[in-house]
Amino acid sequence: MTEAYSIRQFNTDDIKHVVQINKECLPENYPDQFFLGLYYHAPKAFLVAEVDSKLVGYIMCRIERGISSFGRLPVKKGHIVSVAVLHSQRHKGIGTAIIKAGLRAMEEYGASEFFLEVRKGNEDAVSVYENLGFSVRRVLRGYYRDGEDAYLMVAKAENPVEADIIDE
Ligand SMILES: CC(C)(COP(=O)(O)OP(=O)(O)OC[C@H]1O[C@@H](n2cnc3c(N)ncnc32)[C@H](O)[C@@H]1OP(=O)(O)O)[C@@H](O)C(=O)NCCC(=O)NCCS
Repeated sequence: MTEAYSIRQFNTDDIKHVVQINKECLPENYPDQFFLGLYYHAPKAFLVAEVDSKLVGYIMCRIERGISSFGRLPVKKGHIVSVAVLHSQRHKGIGTAIIKAGLRAMEEYGASEFFLEVRKGNEDAVSVYENLGFSVRRVLRGYYRDGEDAYLMVAKAENPVEADIIDE
């Protein structure tokens, strides 16, 4: 047994494990096709974390076009759609590492900024995002099915890449 973890790109054989981690960690759950659709959309930005060859976390992302949160120009934005680390493996830096890797991958797809929605009460996640340079842009009232508000958090890309790999 080692405490070390590694991060690699998702592959379709991982789907059952990722779906299971999502169910254990978050109330927002999705059919397999939703996960696979995001993988085919931006494969380099769908990552998994492993400890002792067992999947313990994932991040999946989408590249979207919209008006910049930092100006008025149209830009490509990297959207963190879902990220989770199994409870038993938290507070070891895995969440931070997999999010950083997801952000780098989205930069490679040309994202010049990032955004995400997170439950207002999810202090662990908000703190991880703040440490990675995200800040709360606004409150999305009643965003979740159970009525909880979300924070919309945004960050600028550190090393945006000129790329047009994903165009929608
Ligand atoms: C959000 C989430 C992915 C973070 O995962 P994680 O692996 O625990 O993240 P990290 O270990 O990188 O960081 C968590 C904390 O542990 C600390 N930490 C990191 N490495 C550490 C270490 N070796 N020893 C002690 N603490 C450590 C970090 O500094 C951070 O502290 P902070 O909260 O005071 O800033 C995880 O809590 C999770 O899966 N939550 C449920 C799903 C969820 O909420 N997803 C986000 C929805 S938007």
